Amino acid sequence: MAVIEIKLCLLGDSGVGKSSIVHRFVYDSFRPYMENTIGAAFLTKTMIVEGRTYKFQIWDTAGQEKYRALAPMYYRGAAAAIIVYDITRESSFHAVKLWLAELKRHASPNIVLAIAGNKNDLEDLREVSYQEAQDCAKSHGAIMIETSAKSAINVASLFVEIGRRLSNL
Ligand code: GTP
Ligand code: MG
Repeated sequence: MAVIEIKLCLLGDSGVGKSSIVHRFVYDSFRPYMENTIGAAFLTKTMIVEGRTYKFQIWDTAGQEKYRALAPMYYRGAAAAIIVYDITRESSFHAVKLWLAELKRHASPNIVLAIAGNKNDLEDLREVSYQEAQDCAKSHGAIMIETSAKSAINVASLFVEIGRRLSNL
């Protein structure tokens, strides 16, 4: 059967767990001391969703401010984008709104958008409510899911949901 190649990028503040989510998805493991990404990292993973075979070509971008200007190279032409924030850091959720605005202006108009509230294993430190994130996602027609790269919660589901959306386009 044909393999559908999907260019996907992850965006979001440094330290929210973009690389950890990708690591969990691709290798099903968690490294507690992941280095900050430099520029961007590229990984692929094939997954079957509802009978279709998707090969995700994943661009894991660097969140540090000095790499900010590189982002358009990765979201341009992307079929899907995952904007990640850390549920324990309000400022990282603010950054999600800025990314949504930027993607709306500059990314492909039919891009599938997903917002991932990561580190949901750290409930005691929560600063961003589930409802607040859900409302934001809804107003942008985006998927919203809380994940934990550490405990593996919802990481596969995040990509399954993206696959579902892609198959409905
Ligand atoms: P940049 O590459 O600088 O943009 O950062 P990043 O978004 O790729 O973050 P990274 O995956 O490197 O994770 C940053 C830190 O958060 C690391 O110490 C991770 O171990 C930790 N971390 C990532 N995901 C989780 C999670 O789900 N739960 C917890 N408790 N810690 C996490
Ligand atoms: Mg990283």
